[in-house]
Amino acid sequence: MKALVVNNEKGGVGKSTLAVHLAWYFAERGKRVLFLDLDPQSNGSTTLETHVGDIDAAALFMRPIAIPPLASAGIRVLGGSAALRNIVAVDGKVIERFRANLRDSSRAFDIAVIDTPPTFGVRNLAALVAAQFVLAPIDLDDYAIDGIETLLKHIVGVKQKYNPDLAFLGLIPNRLQTTSPRQRENLKSLVQRFGTKYLFDGVIPQRSSIGEALAEKKPVWSLSKTAAREAGREMRTVFDKLAMKMETP
Ligand SMILES: Nc1ncnc2c1ncn2[C@@H]1O[C@H](COP(=O)(O)OP(=O)(O)OP(=O)(O)O)[C@@H](O)[C@H]1O
Ligand SMILES: [Mg+2]
Repeated sequence: MKALVVNNEKGGVGKSTLAVHLAWYFAERGKRVLFLDLDPQSNGSTTLETHVGDIDAAALFMRPIAIPPLASAGIRVLGGSAALRNIVAVDGKVIERFRANLRDSSRAFDIAVIDTPPTFGVRNLAALVAAQFVLAPIDLDDYAIDGIETLLKHIVGVKQKYNPDLAFLGLIPNRLQTTSPRQRENLKSLVQRFGTKYLFDGVIPQRSSIGEALAEKKPVWSLSKTAAREAGREMRTVFDKLAMKMETP
């Protein structure tokens, strides 16, 4: 199993939107997908509610858990819940338990997608310690860009200190307003500052059909409107690249 964390401590940048679409994407490609919602807001698990089972993601931090395997392609969700709010103290044992639980399920799934809360705490840290890949959605407003240095420092710090196997797939600009000169300017300065080492080669534009799809709890590419299919095509182009990066060591 490959574990991919979708991470940015800034709120509202599209972590859950991308995480649920990644789960759908990989399941459609024949993968057995484990979706872990580490955010008590539970946006991701609400969208994927038809796949939610009895075990909450919070349990992974508390005791040894045998996650029921998936026999074939599909999605199993360990949902977010209020209990996650009690998992706050940075505790090596809690982090190790999460990592061990994930490792023990690695035969039962092909990929784990981990949605994280907009705070840098022990749940975020545990996800970064346990995973092999991290993707960081960002937005392109002026304030967001100031936070990127901190975000990178956290990710690189975890890699150096705790998890040398962690591969940073990149910052992925989301909700790009393609007609906004200011956003395009910000994108350009991001490219100059972070280059191809940290910036993912692709962007996801702002498309209203993405919100509509989430409201319907369906992937945007499955809606029949032309605009939605186009938004889905844009997203899947990015995911194809991402999947390829996850294949090549
Ligand atoms: N590319 C996009 N185009 C249009 N709307 C988008 C896009 N990406 C995300 N959104 C919308 O932006 C809002 C925030 O997205 P989302 O909940 O995925 O962010 P988040 O990072 O998970 O937030 P939080 O930090 O609170 O968990 C949602 O209403 C979502 O529908
Ligand atoms: Mg979210």
